[in-house]
Amino acid sequence: MNQWPGLSIERWLVLDTPYGAPSAPLVLGRVGSIPVLFLARHGEGHKLPPHAINYRANLWALHHAGVRTIVAIAAVGAIAEWFAPGAIAIPEDLIDYTWGRAHTYSDGRDGSALRHVEFTQPYAMRVRAALQAAADSAGVAVAGAGVMAVTQGPRLESAAEIRRLARDGADMVGMTGMPEAALAAELGIDYACLAVSVNWAAGVKGLGSIHAEIEQSIETGMRKVRAVLSEVLPM
Ligand code: HPA
Repeated sequence: MNQWPGLSIERWLVLDTPYGAPSAPLVLGRVGSIPVLFLARHGEGHKLPPHAINYRANLWALHHAGVRTIVAIAAVGAIAEWFAPGAIAIPEDLIDYTWGRAHTYSDGRDGSALRHVEFTQPYAMRVRAALQAAADSAGVAVAGAGVMAVTQGPRLESAAEIRRLARDGADMVGMTGMPEAALAAELGIDYACLAVSVNWAAGVKGLGSIHAEIEQSIETGMRKVRAVLSEVLPM
């Protein structure tokens, strides 16, 4: 999601961080009377590929600006039957297949303390429950919970890779969920994800064009996301 209709923008916050610049200026505004902050993780014009996003700068900037709850919006490919394109889900767990990304603040440099942060439940129950309640009150069906696989991208997966993710227990696949969720955990931010199924993952329903499918389903899914987000506040 690169913009948030219903958000009345009050100002932009351009922050530098010890880890470099975030993907974009932070947008400060309100939905109704509730103050919110929005960050487009792919940058202005959606130019940053998933592996090149500066996740540490993004999470550091949000934390510095006072954010203690994050709802991450993610377009994903569906692996599980129950998650047809156009549906939304509130994942309950994840598996990280990414590599080579700056993925921790506990990197042993600059005297940072070594912390083995707990990650048993990557997605905060409190935020997941708030999202479910918001969906209920907006009259939007949530297809399920499920496990998110996070791949490196930017290419999509091969059919065999998706069969492996299915065997591993993944229900959906995206490219930006990690290290985002882990960095949020390191900072003590309650983090949950609203996942939008925009296509069947590679090979799940034959070998048709994934991009054509995304074009068809993304607007349906994003309409649901906007409806949920307008109900979810305050948390
Ligand atoms: N795979 C990985 N990430 C994605 C997909 C997919 O099929 N669709 C949207 N994001």
